[in-house]
Amino acid sequence: EEARSIYEAIGGQEKIDELVEAFYARVSKHPDLIPIFPDDFTEVARKQKQFLTQFFGGPPLYIQEHGHPMMRKRHLRFPITPTRRDAWLSCMEGALEEANIEEPFRSAMFDRLTLTANHMMNTPEEKG
Ligand code: HEM
Repeated sequence: EEARSIYEAIGGQEKIDELVEAFYARVSKHPDLIPIFPDDFTEVARKQKQFLTQFFGGPPLYIQEHGHPMMRKRHLRFPITPTRRDAWLSCMEGALEEANIEEPFRSAMFDRLTLTANHMMNTPEEKG
């Protein structure tokens, strides 16, 4: 059998969409994340579906519409502390479970997202 992408293995676009919906439902209720996200998640969810599709080996939807991802640069206007990194990852962990993404893909996805989330930190812990 040929090597398949994670994207294909987990069920393609439908599964990515389910994951992203479950993820932002959690983000929108997380006290550490609410302050930096907009009230309306429609646009960020749409972009995240495009991004994660290509990140996990599906069609390059994000780059087609937005150009080079430059994810760290796109996040610089938001103060991303270690606490916010942890919050983001905990929302993602819950969403991977809610979307019933099976092993070994669940761990493979979480590990890759952890590396990217670490790279996104740009601010030391805030006081108080
Ligand atoms: C956009 C926060 C990690 C992918 C955003 C936005 C915020 C944010 C506040 C912008 C919302 C708006 O448009 O107003 C965070 C935090 C992270 C994190 C706190 C913690 C580490 C990640 C990771 C990825 C990612 C790991 C990818 C694997 C994206 C994408 C967008 C986005 C694709 C939309 C970018 C665009 O505008 O084109 N994020 N993010 N983020 N984030 Fe993150």
